[in-house]
Amino acid sequence: MNVYFYKEKNTGNVIVSKNILDDENFILLKVNDEDASLEKHVPIYEIEENKLIVKVGEILHPMIENHYIMWIALVSKNEIVIHYLKPEDDPVTEFEYKEKATIYAYCNVHGLWKSSVK
Ligand SMILES: [Fe+2]
Repeated sequence: MNVYFYKEKNTGNVIVSKNILDDENFILLKVNDEDASLEKHVPIYEIEENKLIVKVGEILHPMIENHYIMWIALVSKNEIVIHYLKPEDDPVTEFEYKEKATIYAYCNVHGLWKSSVK
């Protein structure tokens, strides 16, 4: 499914929506748009049986208090699954494999990044 990620102006909270929001309190997040290293932000994956092992990214992104991957999401035809991370975690997670899904990763400094699952 098509989804849009927005940042709420006042709180900085990020939300996901199936619809385009027409509300000036929410700023649409662009994808893969920040001037930052691609190899540390674009999610990569491996398929193991029915699992999708996701890493952010080819060179693992730093996970420190003021700069880390806050969440990794898998958006497939019928569902959105979000795994939240803490600074002490590795930027790695597992989802159930879904064909033609999209993986999103959100860095608290460098924003939203995505890659597509075959
Ligand atoms: Fe980053």
